[in-house]
Amino acid sequence: MPPQTPRVAVIGAGRVGSTLAQRLVEQHIADVVLLDVVAGLPQAIALDLMQAQGLENHAYTLTGTNDYADTAGADLVVITAGFPRRPGMSRGDLLASNTQIVAKAAREAIAHSPDAVLLIVTNPLDVMTYIAWQVTGLPPQRVIGMAGVLDSARLQYFIAQALGVAVADVQTMVLGGHGDLMLPLPRYCTVEGVPLTDLLTPEQIAPLVDHTRNAGAELVKLYQTGSAFYAPAAAITLMVRAMVQGRTRQLPAAAYLQGEYGIHDLFMGVPCRINGGGVEKVLELALNETELGALQASARFVRSMVEEAIGHSAPITTL
Ligand code: LAC
Repeated sequence: MPPQTPRVAVIGAGRVGSTLAQRLVEQHIADVVLLDVVAGLPQAIALDLMQAQGLENHAYTLTGTNDYADTAGADLVVITAGFPRRPGMSRGDLLASNTQIVAKAAREAIAHSPDAVLLIVTNPLDVMTYIAWQVTGLPPQRVIGMAGVLDSARLQYFIAQALGVAVADVQTMVLGGHGDLMLPLPRYCTVEGVPLTDLLTPEQIAPLVDHTRNAGAELVKLYQTGSAFYAPAAAITLMVRAMVQGRTRQLPAAAYLQGEYGIHDLFMGVPCRINGGGVEKVLELALNETELGALQASARFVRSMVEEAIGHSAPITTL
């Protein structure tokens, strides 16, 4: 018997969710159930993409639904549901609108797939990951937020452009909350083993760091009607591929912290070992004082948003 095909539930059929669903089937990674509250939308996307099954030459199944019961038995649940930013908004401005959406999605999806790993994508990312963990009561290792892979990929691209080398030669690391206080770490960036800090001056690195921090907002401004989705979906695809194929990867992701970096009871972007069961291990880097201070400042901001989310949506604590 061939091993069973992995099954991924993607909650939210917006631009991130639908692009992710497309990549997962067309890149031969998993069968996908795409769920949205909008009647007809996930069904249309599934039908449209499945009509390309022969052209794209894959044997994976994409199903669209409005009913959580159809997502049952998923190995992995990815939550992309919620409103994207509009020009001028910060990710934190989405707190009020997205908290209940994510709480409901996480609770309903996990009710039907109690053994799944939960991967959160909706913004404000670190806060939504915390909320999803709270309402599902899953062990924290089985709840992960996707942001560091995306932010690191953006920095990788900007460095490759600046140096005129292939992106494959560049390794980067961005930690912290997925917001204005995210922490690109030039000291941990390398080009085929050569520290970035040996190749560029601090003055040359600073704009690349700023560009990474502002990359999401730059795209919101250009798109006008929503936020980035191609690179976010590619980052999720990379994480899903690693998890369903049972490979351990070392990646930056929002993981539950219990004292690492002096941060307690918070999900935030840190380097992790991730595998099919979720977060196997959080790595604690020897950050210098400036880096640690910046990470903790980012954590304080995330914590204030978590408190706000819990405060102005009292019902979530009783779900
Ligand atoms: C971004 C949004 C998706 O960074 O948070 O593009």
